[in-house]
Amino acid sequence: MVSLSTALLLALSTTVSAFKAGASGHSAKYSIVPGFFKQSDNSTDAKTFDYHDNLGLNDSLTWTEFKQQIDDLNANAELGVSYKVLYYARHGEGWHNVASDFYGDAFGCYYTNFETDGNMTWGPDPYLTEKGIEQAKNNSALIKSLIKDDFPLPQAFYSSPFTRCADTLNYTWYDIALAPGYATPVFKEVIREVLGGGTPDLRRDRAYLEERYPSWDFEANFPFNDTLYSPDWRETSAGLEWRGRFFLDDMFETEESTFISATSHGGIGTGIMAAAGHREFSLVTGAIIPMVIKREAKLDFTPVQIDLEGTPGPYSANVTACPASLSYTTLPASLASTVYTLGADTTGLPVVTVTSVVTASPTSA
Ligand SMILES: *[C@@H]1O[C@H](CO)[C@@H](O)[C@H](O)[C@H]1NC(C)=O
Ligand SMILES: *[C@@H]1O[C@H](CO)[C@@H](O)[C@H](O)[C@H]1NC(C)=O
Ligand SMILES: *[C@@H]1O[C@H](CO)[C@@H](O)[C@H](O)[C@H]1NC(C)=O
Ligand SMILES: *[C@@H]1O[C@H](CO)[C@@H](O)[C@H](O)[C@H]1NC(C)=O
Ligand SMILES: *[C@@H]1O[C@H](CO)[C@@H](O)[C@H](O)[C@H]1NC(C)=O
Ligand SMILES: *[C@@H]1O[C@H](CO)[C@@H](O)[C@H](O)[C@H]1NC(C)=O
Ligand SMILES: *[C@@H]1O[C@H](CO)[C@@H](O)[C@H](O)[C@H]1NC(C)=O
Repeated sequence: MVSLSTALLLALSTTVSAFKAGASGHSAKYSIVPGFFKQSDNSTDAKTFDYHDNLGLNDSLTWTEFKQQIDDLNANAELGVSYKVLYYARHGEGWHNVASDFYGDAFGCYYTNFETDGNMTWGPDPYLTEKGIEQAKNNSALIKSLIKDDFPLPQAFYSSPFTRCADTLNYTWYDIALAPGYATPVFKEVIREVLGGGTPDLRRDRAYLEERYPSWDFEANFPFNDTLYSPDWRETSAGLEWRGRFFLDDMFETEESTFISATSHGGIGTGIMAAAGHREFSLVTGAIIPMVIKREAKLDFTPVQIDLEGTPGPYSANVTACPASLSYTTLPASLASTVYTLGADTTGLPVVTVTSVVTASPTSA
């Protein structure tokens, strides 16, 4: 059901799709509703927190009570106020994560500009490792185990346009909610990883995604090629927060569902959390954390639009070389010559059909 306030805001706002055009003012305020999840609480130590433990739900709540309380919040909300539950997932381990651990500090300032060392391939758009696939399948088992407790399944699924995210989403939700006629994931450019400055964050084209996930949708105006990548600059944390706010504006204005899954990355995750007023909370690969987000919007709300069309702006910084103190082995020129090409295999992918469904929610409330 679309509330009156949402309908008014939809009517007043322009279409938010590809994030370009000039910045404009906005008057929506986001905050995290405390009391529902341990990860929202400052006293929870992110290092020892394990999302496998009921996704962090407060021990004094059942999922049935949780869902009822969220429904009550929305039903009783004042004009302009609404609540959504975002199940935010970081992709499982990818080859760039392995390479980053292997090379340490030199990965981000040197190796990331290459695609491979001849041993591992981390860009463009690296694949999940076997461990990454297992993390996602394990999350699928976790979600299935919560269904008997009345866990409110997401009604909408968003994916970053990177293979590591789409595959994580698929392995997690495939036989829970992705059967034809139930939910259809949507590729959203706005939740891609930190822009620029490293081949793991250079994406493939739309045709590749269409071939790998033929039944999935794309947001309006999804660019065919990666027009936002530059090897010369990298988005800053201020840029990530700005983009996180854009994502929240888009989600609250265009999404009717209350429970939403987004499978994305660590970097843009910090931006979304900052924009939502969530405490800082670093996510291990494969982690899923729910957030209860409150939005208070004035009726003169104007969506934030940002200009990141391939040029450096206030939200990007020049890529810098490694400090002289850092020693690393330079890669042979033969490997350097392959930098920034999209050479990875896009063929031979299995065409899959959903054969069994555990349970599923309708696509809208
Ligand atoms: C869990 O709920 C109880 C009872 O409402 C509350 O006192 C407590 O602060 C909550 N815990 C967290 C971590 O939010
Ligand atoms: C949580 O910690 C942050 C950073 O220290 C602080 O700004 C914020 O006010 C704290 N929130 C609560 C609810 O105590
Ligand atoms: C798999 O999931 C179980 C239960 O959710 C959890 O206890 C375990 O740590 C997970 N294993 C891995 C490798 O993530
Ligand atoms: C290849 O990469 C793996 C990690 O994936 C590492 O353990 C191994 O030492 C590397 N081999 C060489 C020759 O660099
Ligand atoms: C999607 O997940 C299913 C179930 O795990 C798997 O059989 C299929 O190969 C996956 N598709 C892709 C493109 O990875
Ligand atoms: C995408 O990029 C390729 C390679 O640079 C180019 O040939 C093609 O025209 C581009 N397509 C669009 C729609 O911009
Ligand atoms: C990036 O480098 C260019 C050219 O050297 C310089 O003009 C610009 O000020 C630099 N930008 C930042 C953010 O440092």
